[in-house]
Amino acid sequence: MVGTLQHITFYNGQKMPIVGLGTWQLPLIGMRHSGVEKYLKKSLSGLQVDYVDLYLVHNPIGFQDVDDGGYPKDKDGQVLLDMTTDHISIWKGMEAQVDAGRARSIGLSNFNARQIKRVWQSARIKPANLQVEMHAYFQQRELRAFCRALDITVCAWGPLGTPQIYSFVEKQGGDVSKLPRYDLLGDPVVKRIAQKHGKTTAQVLIRFLMQLEVAVIPKSSNPTRVEENFAVFDFELPPEDMEALEALDKGRKGRLGSEHSQPGSGRHPEWPWFEPY
Ligand SMILES: NC(=O)c1ccc[n+]([C@@H]2O[C@H](COP(=O)([O-])OP(=O)(O)OC[C@H]3O[C@@H](n4cnc5c(N)ncnc54)[C@H](OP(=O)(O)O)[C@@H]3O)[C@@H](O)[C@H]2O)c1
Repeated sequence: MVGTLQHITFYNGQKMPIVGLGTWQLPLIGMRHSGVEKYLKKSLSGLQVDYVDLYLVHNPIGFQDVDDGGYPKDKDGQVLLDMTTDHISIWKGMEAQVDAGRARSIGLSNFNARQIKRVWQSARIKPANLQVEMHAYFQQRELRAFCRALDITVCAWGPLGTPQIYSFVEKQGGDVSKLPRYDLLGDPVVKRIAQKHGKTTAQVLIRFLMQLEVAVIPKSSNPTRVEENFAVFDFELPPEDMEALEALDKGRKGRLGSEHSQPGSGRHPEWPWFEPY
């Protein structure tokens, strides 16, 4: 799979690469022009391939590249930010990777609409894809419409409601009590629809996003669940089920990604989630 381009075709005939297996991201410690080539080359060498299908800027904020490894932190556990992050110069670095044949397509992740528009306006090679948190509790309608207007495909991270986020935030030293407590996989509406179709709640949640024309990358470390999460092409949710799932949207209250995943990150001038979308 790595190094090949695989597509899914949506109902409207639009073809889109399946992202996830062929996708890598510029880490937050690499958020500067020179960091793009440095970190993409590292990924290519680790993967033993010559190019990736899609390379994304992981996040609009930047961290200091002090230890060339994990996230740098001060003695109080606050992440060490690089306040000079410049999206336009980073995007020029991304375009150079396409020119050099190291990435087929380039895109963004976790950028808000204003940040996307600014990159898009200056871009010689337009962002092909946006990867953001998206699930039935956080459906991001405005952002999806915004991306559609700019011809940017959308990919959902956390499509099952990212249930492991609570343990992740704790591990990072973040304040987990600040996050809303959700159990999307156990939601009664999702359960009812799953029962009706003889499917699991995970399959319904994945299928729901697919029918909204969103690419989906559920994560599982369990081979049986990986198979389960792929078995979503043999059923279709009718309009009444889509409507019931659309009604689960909690708007911005549904977001589980936050500055608590990396304590201190909300102080960065490009922190994306203070704006409505
Ligand atoms: N761009 C970004 O900033 C960003 C941020 C977060 C994540 N991501 C990407 O998005 C992918 C998915 O997001 P995510 O991991 O946050 O959330 P997710 O896919 O919504 O949820 C993953 C969790 O659900 C469990 N799970 C998976 N399949 C299941 C099933 N069929 N039934 C019940 N539980 C199931 C997994 O546990 P088991 O492993 O035990 O099955 C895991 O704990 C990640 O792999 C990552 O690559 C990107």
